[in-house]
Amino acid sequence: MKPRILISRQVFPQIVSDLSAHFEVDHNESDDILSADALRVRAADCAAVMCCLTEKIDAAFFDACPTVKVVSNIAVGFNNIDVAEASKRGVMATNTPGVLDDTTADLTFALLMATARRITETEARLRRGEWKKGFALQQWLGADVHHAKLGIIGMGRIGQTIARRASGFDMQVSYYNRKQLDAATEAKLNVSYASKEAILRESDFVVVMVPYSKDTHHLIGAAELALMKPSAIFINTARGGVADDIALLAALKEKRIAGAGLDVFENEPALHPDFLSLDNVVLTPHIGSATQATRMNMAKLAALNLTLALQGQRPPNLINP
Ligand code: GLV
Repeated sequence: MKPRILISRQVFPQIVSDLSAHFEVDHNESDDILSADALRVRAADCAAVMCCLTEKIDAAFFDACPTVKVVSNIAVGFNNIDVAEASKRGVMATNTPGVLDDTTADLTFALLMATARRITETEARLRRGEWKKGFALQQWLGADVHHAKLGIIGMGRIGQTIARRASGFDMQVSYYNRKQLDAATEAKLNVSYASKEAILRESDFVVVMVPYSKDTHHLIGAAELALMKPSAIFINTARGGVADDIALLAALKEKRIAGAGLDVFENEPALHPDFLSLDNVVLTPHIGSATQATRMNMAKLAALNLTLALQGQRPPNLINP
């Protein structure tokens, strides 16, 4: 008999059919987010679960589903999984790093440029018929991206991929990371190491690209926003909760910073309604990795991790320490 697995969100048909060759697949085709109870019921007799960041895989889940020995996240971030609890129970947890670096860096740059050049705001004005004067010298002026100072907080694979894009815009890039990069990598990327405070104080654009955890909760809060220049723009394509949305809203409303480009929010999809009435923000609904090719590659990698783990091999992206 084939082992049973649950795919907790809708994935591409090819992934379901590939996995069906090895496993009896329960696929949540409706794509409705399963409640914690529904998830436990559907996974109860499964050997593995392939899930997204919308599923909380915690001690209560493991208690209810003792047959689950593999949790394969279709995401690079894994703050939805209690990895310590998984390890305690001998459950392998995996993620999908690498395949989404370029796509997420592209979206980060898209948000940075859209915020700097007021693209969504001015497009909305045009659509509302507010473009009455034609070209006007002082109309809807934004900020230059080229030659500006970019500060990247979190210089892992995606942070470095963002830095590579910045060099094409002749930006001056500084970064903060728990661990400084080696000199050769710094030289290749043309980036310099700085304290978080110096980055916040001096950058024209501040990008955060750190995983979400207890340590990075509200990494950007009122105190950090207060260090930023009134002309500075903040970009978050990492995770909701890395920034304190209430503090960010206050800074944006009071024009203590110039703008923000945000792909992620605390309590998403229920973002704070005040974001919607601000002109100086560009908002996207957590689409950092959302291209056809990248989402397919993420799902394929998640399927590979799950299959190898259930076959008793070490999956390539094991996250248990
Ligand atoms: C998406 O947010 C991911 O972590 O892959």
